[in-house]
Amino acid sequence: MVFSSVILGIETSCDETSAAVLADGHTLLSHITSSQIDVHHPYGGVVPEIASREHCLHIDAVVEKAMEEAHLEFRDLSAVAVTYGPGLVGSLLVGVAYAKALAFAAGLPLIGVNHLEAHVLVNLLEHPHMEFPLLALLASGGHTNILYFEDYLTYRVVGRTRDDAAGEAFDKVARTLNLGYPGGPPIERAAARGNEMAFELPRSLLEPGSLDFSFSGLKSAVLNLLNTARMKGHILNTEDVAASFQRAVIDVLLAKIRLALDHFPDTRALALAGGVAANSALRQALAVETQGQSRNQGQRESRNQSQWQSQRQSQHPYQYLPLYVPSVSLCTDNGAMVATAGYYYYLADRVSPWTLNAVPGLGF
Ligand code: KG4
Ligand code: ZN
Repeated sequence: MVFSSVILGIETSCDETSAAVLADGHTLLSHITSSQIDVHHPYGGVVPEIASREHCLHIDAVVEKAMEEAHLEFRDLSAVAVTYGPGLVGSLLVGVAYAKALAFAAGLPLIGVNHLEAHVLVNLLEHPHMEFPLLALLASGGHTNILYFEDYLTYRVVGRTRDDAAGEAFDKVARTLNLGYPGGPPIERAAARGNEMAFELPRSLLEPGSLDFSFSGLKSAVLNLLNTARMKGHILNTEDVAASFQRAVIDVLLAKIRLALDHFPDTRALALAGGVAANSALRQALAVETQGQSRNQGQRESRNQSQWQSQRQSQHPYQYLPLYVPSVSLCTDNGAMVATAGYYYYLADRVSPWTLNAVPGLGF
C-alpha cells in the first residue's frame, strides 16, 4: 500500500519508552510501549536516573519492533518525530539523541514535538475532523490546563494550575492511602466501590471567573482527614476516601469547563487529554455534561456536598456539544500521540534543526 506520509513517533519523556508508526495521519501501523511502572513501583514514584537508564536499554528494541510490525524500512518513512519536552531531562535526551541519529542516518526530517500538544492532538488520530474553535482540558501528572484551539496548531492557554496538577493530586493521595504509583488507576478502582458523599472535601475554584486550578488544598484536606483519624485511632474506609476525593477533582474540572464554555461561547467542541483523561468517572461525567447540562451554570462559590450533587443532577437542555476523548491507552504517555502531533507538524512544515535539544521545562 502506498501512503502519502509515514511518521515514526518516539516518546521517552518520563517512564514509558514508546514508538508508533502512523500512516497518513490516521492509520496506526504499529504501536509499541515498554512501561517502567514495575521498575519504579517500589520507590513510590519515578526515579529519574533509573528512568533514563531504562530508556537506553529499551529504545532500540521498541523502535525496531515498531518498524517490524509496520512492515516498513526506515527509508519508507517521511519523518522521525520525537518528544523534546517537557519531561525529565535524562529521559528526554535518550529519545532526542536516538531520533536525531536515526533521522540523520536515514536522511529524514527530524520533528521535535511538544509533549503537551501531543496529548491533545492525539484526539485527531481517532477523530481527524474535529470542530474548531475547540476547548481542550489537559489533565496529566505535571499539567492541568484549559486550552482554546482556533485550529490544529493555533491555540491559547486560558487556564492553568497554580499548584498541583490533577494527576499529581491523584498520585499524592494514593501514596497516603498506600495504593501505590501511579495513583490514578488504583484510586479509580477503589472509588468505584466507595461512597463519594462520605467525606466533605473542598473544591477550590479560586476567584470568580478564573479558569485556573488549585488542587493543593484538596490534597491537604485528604491528608489532614487521614492524619486526624489516625491520631484518634479511627480507621477510615479507603474506598470512601478515594471516592470522595475523585468526586471533588471531577467537580472542579467540570465547573471550570462550564465556566470556559461561558467565556468562549463560540466553542464548537470539547476535547479531553492527558493521563487523568483515562479516568472513567471523569469521562462519564463529561459525557453527561455535554449532552444534558446547561451551558451557563457559571461559577458559584461555597457549595456544600449536597449542593454539588444537586447541581450535577439538575438537567437542563444543553445544546449538544461534540466531546472528544482518546481511547484509554492513548491518554497516558505513548508514541502514537507523538506520531500524530508529528504528522500535523509535518503538514505545517515544522521541521526541527539538527541542534534540537531536550527542553525539560518546555511550556506551551
Ligand atoms: O499524561 P501522563 O501519562 O503523564 C504526564 O505527562 O504527566 O499522566 C500521568 C498521570 C499520573 O498522575 C496518573 O496518576 C494519572 O495521569 N492517571 C490517572 C488515571 N490514569 C493515569 N488519573 C486518574 N484516573 C486514572 N485512571
Ligand atoms: Zn504526558
